[in-house]
Amino acid sequence: MASSSVCGLGMILSFALALASVAPPAEARAFFVFGDSLVDNGNNNYLATSARADSPPYGIDYPTHRPTGRFSNGLNIPDIISENIGSEPTLPYLSPQLKGNKLLVGANFASAGVGILNDTGIQFVNIIRIWRQLEYFQQYQQRVSALIGANRTKQLVNQALVLITLGGNDFVNNYFLVPYSARSRQFALPDYVRYLISEYHKVLLRLYELGGRRVIVTGSGPLGCVPAELAMRSRNGECAPELQRAASLFDPQLEQMINALNSKIGTHVFIAANTKEMHTDFISNPQAFGFSTAKIACCGQGPYNGLGLCTVLSNLCPNRELYAFWDPFHPSEKANRLIVQQIMTGSTKYMNPMNLSTIMEMDSRA
Ligand SMILES: *[C@@H]1O[C@H](CO)[C@@H](O)[C@H](O)[C@H]1NC(C)=O
Ligand SMILES: *[C@@H]1O[C@H](CO)[C@@H](O)[C@H](O)[C@H]1NC(C)=O
Ligand SMILES: *[C@@H]1O[C@H](CO)[C@@H](O)[C@H](O)[C@H]1NC(C)=O
Repeated sequence: MASSSVCGLGMILSFALALASVAPPAEARAFFVFGDSLVDNGNNNYLATSARADSPPYGIDYPTHRPTGRFSNGLNIPDIISENIGSEPTLPYLSPQLKGNKLLVGANFASAGVGILNDTGIQFVNIIRIWRQLEYFQQYQQRVSALIGANRTKQLVNQALVLITLGGNDFVNNYFLVPYSARSRQFALPDYVRYLISEYHKVLLRLYELGGRRVIVTGSGPLGCVPAELAMRSRNGECAPELQRAASLFDPQLEQMINALNSKIGTHVFIAANTKEMHTDFISNPQAFGFSTAKIACCGQGPYNGLGLCTVLSNLCPNRELYAFWDPFHPSEKANRLIVQQIMTGSTKYMNPMNLSTIMEMDSRA
């Protein structure tokens, strides 16, 4: 979610120069990331949009201690997945540094503010909507083909790990953005969710057509419990019911749709990560995970530090390890680590049909 109310000739030349020295890393697996601000690692910094995390204190705990475009105090979920699978972090697709050998590591196509629907996040103007992210993925494959040939490119893509995180903004930055939004006048919530799922189905099929064979699909998370919603919609600090209802309609239907897709394809291409369950664990018992609070954002202002943007003028907590939420919408690095831990080794309560360590093991034997 965006914190809301946040190639040409030279390229050909650099390919020619890179060609001589390209050797794919022996074992590292490529990693591709699609989706919204939960996984964007800087693409929006290259775009004229308000949905960006390019100023302090974003990045305060990142190795460089500078903002990078990640909506986190430090690392985000894709960074920590890369760490866990023994790869270097992927670069944003729009980064000029993504060329030559670096392309073989994979790429991050995510863009803060986007949703499943094309009309989600229109207030952010220039963001990379999901269908555009998929076009860039195709363009990426052409660039890599020029480097290592079409066959090896296909192999690299088929053997890669893919992560896609979408859906939150279709509620927060669309259906529930304003009272009587166009989508909420068009659809009752259950019908809207069915529509989202049918559109998401098309996105996932396209990802499969483009060569994705191991795709982790995250659910929406506990939308009503984030500090922004507590600040705007909650009376006593209880999670906002309409957004919780949205999440509890969306997540199970997403899982069903994924199961149906896998059955149709005949193998486990898509893996559902129940991020709502993962979050709910530390929201219901923050202390058990070493947090002092899962209601108050580390960076922000107003009730729960949940109003407006996280900026240099905001309240900033001294110890980010104690906060489940970094800003009004996004988890802290510490919370991201807990989420990735479940993605890696969680039971079927969290990962369906299996966790990432099982996938890595299976694929290494294949
Ligand atoms: C969304 O945009 C893509 C490409 O820009 C288009 O192919 C697709 O049909 C659009 N979806 C809807 C529901 O309009
Ligand atoms: C690429 O793969 C196809 C089909 O497997 C094969 O016929 C062709 O010879 C391969 N090309 C190269 C350059 O290896
Ligand atoms: C998840 O990973 C652990 C080991 O890390 C394994 O014991 C467990 O069986 C896995 N669960 C599933 C559902 O794949």
